[in-house]
Amino acid sequence: MTRMITIFDTTLRDGEQSPGASMNVEEKLSIARQLARLGVDVIEAGFAFSSPGDFEAIRMIAHEVEGPVICSLARAKPGDVDRAWEALKGGAKVRIHTFISTSDIHLKHQFRLTRAEALDRAVEMVGRARGYVDDVEFSPMDATRSEETYLCEVLEAVIAAGARTVNIPDTVGYATPHEFTQLIRTIQERVPNIRQAVISVHCHNDLGLSTANSLGAVLAGAGQVECTINGIGERAGNAALEEVVMALRTRQDVFGADTRIVTEEIAKTSRLVSKITGMSVQPNKAIVGANAFAHESGIHQDGLLKEKMTYEIMRPESVGAGKTHIVLGKHSGRHAFKQKLEELGYRPSDAELDKAFERLKRLADQKKEIFEEDLETIVSEEMDRSEEAYRLVSIHVESGTDMTPTAKIELEAGDKTVSAVGQGDGPVDAAYRTIASLTQTKSRLVSYVVKGITGGTDALGEVSVTVEEDGRSAMGHGADTDIIIASVRAYLNALNKLAARASKRGGGEPKVGLI
Ligand code: KIV
Ligand code: ZN
Repeated sequence: MTRMITIFDTTLRDGEQSPGASMNVEEKLSIARQLARLGVDVIEAGFAFSSPGDFEAIRMIAHEVEGPVICSLARAKPGDVDRAWEALKGGAKVRIHTFISTSDIHLKHQFRLTRAEALDRAVEMVGRARGYVDDVEFSPMDATRSEETYLCEVLEAVIAAGARTVNIPDTVGYATPHEFTQLIRTIQERVPNIRQAVISVHCHNDLGLSTANSLGAVLAGAGQVECTINGIGERAGNAALEEVVMALRTRQDVFGADTRIVTEEIAKTSRLVSKITGMSVQPNKAIVGANAFAHESGIHQDGLLKEKMTYEIMRPESVGAGKTHIVLGKHSGRHAFKQKLEELGYRPSDAELDKAFERLKRLADQKKEIFEEDLETIVSEEMDRSEEAYRLVSIHVESGTDMTPTAKIELEAGDKTVSAVGQGDGPVDAAYRTIASLTQTKSRLVSYVVKGITGGTDALGEVSVTVEEDGRSAMGHGADTDIIIASVRAYLNALNKLAARASKRGGGEPKVGLI
């Protein structure tokens, strides 16, 4: 019989702990909606106590996203548990996930608690969380470096206190598959009430073993796997959802287990997370890398033409990476456009739809075929424009082998239109320097990444940038068939985010760096 494994996605919490991957409330909400379409069972939407932004994101996701259970992380402290509940209450299906370390290394050097004190805290906080909600998860942090007898005692006590899921984190990615599988077996043998809870696993990828460890745990009887899209997360990241899910689906003969994931949504979810976090996916990344289904060798291509099974263990379409469909053209109407966007999961306002439709028409003049990815790029950019301090009116750039690249930029800033001419080392540099002088920004450009969205020289190019000012960074994205215009859109998008945050500042305390 095939067992169903619960997929607990922590892209919005552990994934957000990737350096530079912080997301605003709107971005988190759009990822959460996509995770619901992907069919994850649980979304860990954030860490309510850590910042007002996380609190608000959890609150909105709990109220607006239907389907998955929505979860908040909480340290084993009364204030954290109460804050998690504040954010979650009113949501249809919610979970509090509380944790404390159980390894001597952490207890002695970081928490300065004895084993007995940590156990008491864990039990007390699970009880407190159960006072709010039935669905409570507990994690003994750094479980894989904890003394086994003590770990089992803690698990028994928190299950008796009402934890319905006990999660075993390999916090520092230290365990090997054999050890981790064995640990899950030991827990099943030595924790007398273990059948009253689901065993979950949460593996980090410091040694590149997170997927193998998670799958080993499933073989040993774990019922929940915690993972992130594209494997993002603290340091080297977490087990990648797409790898765990596709391994279970493809090798059911080995695992006897499957998930409820709608695998055809995987590629789209990966693109969205990559775009919002600015973390590109390496081309050879399993399942979602650009080369994951590309066959280069002549021998492989020959085999594939004769029979796909020769070199293909999964169909690209099964993860949504097959040939993308041409969806609309020059003559498509606004209604068809709106309908297609709804099918793709976007719900723009009328004004956003008008702007996106205008851009679609312009794009259709420049580009023969419009693909789903093009639509997603245009609409998400237009939906991202809510609080714009600066808007691009026009750009004119000249560059060549025998001249200094020069840019003329016209911007709308509030009710004024301003323009300037500037020079730089290349056309993008000239444009960025001109914008910097017009906006008087003191920010620094930290990263600049360009990629083609669909194939061909007429493809939309997408630029992602990160800018930093006073220790705060913002990501910006821009797309256009002209790479210089895409670069300018991305830079302005990032500056607009910094400006929006600066104007909101005052109530916004920084995130608490805890884990
Ligand atoms: O890696 C870890 O231990 C965690 C816990 C909070 C579950 O992220
Ligand atoms: Zn973690």
